[in-house]
Amino acid sequence: MNHDIADIALADTGDLRIEWAARRMPVLAAIRERFEAEQPLAGYRIGACMHVTTETATLMHTLVAGGAEVALCASNPLSTQDDVAASLVRSGIPTFAVRGESADDFYSHINAVLDTNPHMVFDDGADMTTVLHRERADQDVLGGMEETTTGVIRLKAMAEDDVLRYPVVAVNDSDTKHLFDNRHGTGQSSLDGILRAANILFAGKRVVVAGYGDCGWGIATRAKGLGADVIVTEIDPIRAVSAAMEGHRVMSGIEAAKVGEVFITATGNMHVFRAEHFAAMPDGAIVANAGHFDVELDLVALDDMATSRRQIRDNLEEFVLPDGRRILVVAEGRLVNLGAAEGHPADVMDMSFADQALAAEWIVQNADHLRPQVYKLPDELDQQVASLKLEAMGGQLEQLTPEQADYLASWQHGT
Ligand SMILES: NC(=O)c1ccc[n+]([C@@H]2O[C@H](COP(=O)([O-])OP(=O)(O)OC[C@H]3O[C@@H](n4cnc5c(N)ncnc54)[C@H](O)[C@@H]3O)[C@@H](O)[C@H]2O)c1
Repeated sequence: MNHDIADIALADTGDLRIEWAARRMPVLAAIRERFEAEQPLAGYRIGACMHVTTETATLMHTLVAGGAEVALCASNPLSTQDDVAASLVRSGIPTFAVRGESADDFYSHINAVLDTNPHMVFDDGADMTTVLHRERADQDVLGGMEETTTGVIRLKAMAEDDVLRYPVVAVNDSDTKHLFDNRHGTGQSSLDGILRAANILFAGKRVVVAGYGDCGWGIATRAKGLGADVIVTEIDPIRAVSAAMEGHRVMSGIEAAKVGEVFITATGNMHVFRAEHFAAMPDGAIVANAGHFDVELDLVALDDMATSRRQIRDNLEEFVLPDGRRILVVAEGRLVNLGAAEGHPADVMDMSFADQALAAEWIVQNADHLRPQVYKLPDELDQQVASLKLEAMGGQLEQLTPEQADYLASWQHGT
């Protein structure tokens, strides 16, 4: 099912919400203005597999302004905002996505986008890339963009195995992406998702954050800011020490399970909380996942352990264990910020999606010499995006004096 026939009321709501997001994306707006004048993507078809949100819609409109023909599907069955999909369809962008779609529909929607024969693909989690490599190996693609950590890990594994067929820009690896989107975007919006689903007070709660990468840092920092007592679990000693020096307690998963009240995974790994952890959690424990795939919480094990389950609030399901303890799962264990809230605020997606738009232009400009490997966006473009964002935020950069520039470039100085 898709939004072929746009629902008028839905599309109207989508239009307004997209306008609201676009207003808070000044960097992307500047790129859109230039794209309109220069048409760098004219003649190119783009297939995108991304969360169908107001910010993604703003990116799609930017690509169209640059001359591209665009088709979109969802990168997660629960992250589609149906009003946005309806608005996009009405604006002439084929969008194949419905919130809550089945796994079969999810993949048929990816295939529907690939049927448009895109020159470039925008992916978030590498699902479209995987379909292109497994099932549509004869389809030629000029290049791709990847939005998230988990997708980049998958692509690097493909490049390592020599199976990657075209160049891909790891947009996630740009500083203007992961240092802001993963930290501030996921940090704030994951808590937003839990708040909307459960309406709890974070102050005074013992909040367990599994994984202290960029997303985990953001979640832990924001939870601490709301007055939570944060406990971090990590497998990497450096990140674990970093959490400890930020004032968080660091524990093994099983010890944290015994004392935590809210649990949030952000590892990119599977079964971080599983049967042994659910068995140790106190009554009323809330568990949520911010990682890309819904594999971080072993919900099959939880279902096996439970004597009953019921939907107690929107996006909040209660599992009752044989001894009467209740475990509450937010948004089916899928990306909590997109499943139970609206995803990252536009202010931060501004930079991530500016990187995406510039990456597409960069692929077009460099197509003749790029190889089938994973590229980072050039540092100048990363810096350009940061400069534009700083300017939009009213900040000013200090400038080096010629004397300072010489000093920094020289090794012939000392005490
Ligand atoms: N929800 C969103 O909107 C959103 C946004 C950006 C990224 N993501 C996803 O979130 C996940 C994390 O992204 P990131 O950029 O923080 O990645 P990252 O690689 O920077 O951090 C992941 C951390 O988890 C740790 N880890 C791995 N297995 C663990 C385990 N079993 N127990 C405890 N810690 C473990 C790793 O050591 C690492 O420090 C990825 O799946 C990414 O794609 C989601």
